[in-house]
Amino acid sequence: MTLGPADDGVGRPLGPVVGIVVVAAGSGERLGAGRPKALVEVAGRSLIAHAVAGLGEAGFTSVVVVHTPGEEAAFRAAVAGAGTDAGVEVVLVPGGADRSASVRAGLAALPGDVEVVAVHDAARAFTPPAVLRAVVAAVTGDVVAAAPAVPVADTLKRVDGHRVTGTVDRSELVAVQTPQVFPAAVLRAVATEGASATDELALVEQHLADGRLEGRIVWVPGSARGFKVTVPEDLELAEVFATR
Ligand code: C5P
Repeated sequence: MTLGPADDGVGRPLGPVVGIVVVAAGSGERLGAGRPKALVEVAGRSLIAHAVAGLGEAGFTSVVVVHTPGEEAAFRAAVAGAGTDAGVEVVLVPGGADRSASVRAGLAALPGDVEVVAVHDAARAFTPPAVLRAVVAAVTGDVVAAAPAVPVADTLKRVDGHRVTGTVDRSELVAVQTPQVFPAAVLRAVATEGASATDELALVEQHLADGRLEGRIVWVPGSARGFKVTVPEDLELAEVFATR
C-alpha cells in the first residue's frame, strides 16, 4: 500500500512511505451533538468526510481512520463517498478509551513498510492541503517530530481558581495543531501502552528530556483553518471554511 504524498508518474512514491492515522474516536461531549463529533455534519458532510477529502486533495491515497467503538457502520457510511471522490482508500479500526489508545490502534493497523507516520485529528477537518504536505516534508534528517503551529493571539494569564496571578510571555509560545508527523520507529517507540498525553509531540518531548531519544522537534506554519472543532460555536466557523 502506497501512502506517499506523490509519485514519480509511474506509481513509485517520491520520498518516504507515509502512513496517515486520523483519530476520530472521541465522544464529542463538549460539542453536545448527541453523536460522535466526527459524524457531525457541516455543509452537508460529516467532519470525518471533510478530513478524508482534505487528505485526498493533499495527495494521500490511503488513510487509517480510528472510529468510535460500536459505530463502524455509521463511519463506513460517512467516509464511503468522500474516500471514493478523493481517491483515498480508508481503513477503519475501532479506537480506545483515550486519545493515546486510539493512536496506538491506528498505528497497529498501518503496514510494516511505513517510514513516516502522520497523526491527524478528525476534528481539524479543514486543515489546508498545503499545511498537510509541509509538515510531512519537515520530517527529515535529525527531525524526530513535526507539527503545524500558530502564534498565540490572546494574552495568557496564570490563574488560581478565579484569581489571576500572572501573565505568561506569549512570545515564546505557539498553539500546536495536527497532523503531527514522526519517523515510524520514533512513534512506535514512544506511543506504548500506558504512555498518555494530550498530543504525541509530548511523548517525544519526554523521551528527548530523559535521553531515551536524540533529535529535534520542529514546527511549521499552521493555519487558522486547522482549528479544532470543539464547542458548538466552532460549527459556524466550520460551515464558513467548508463552503469556500
Ligand atoms: O477531544 P479532543 O477534541 O481533544 O480530541 C482530539 C482528537 O482525538 C479528535 O479527533 C478525537 O476524535 C480523537 N480522539 C480519539 N479517541 C479518543 C479521544 C479522542 O480518537 N478516545
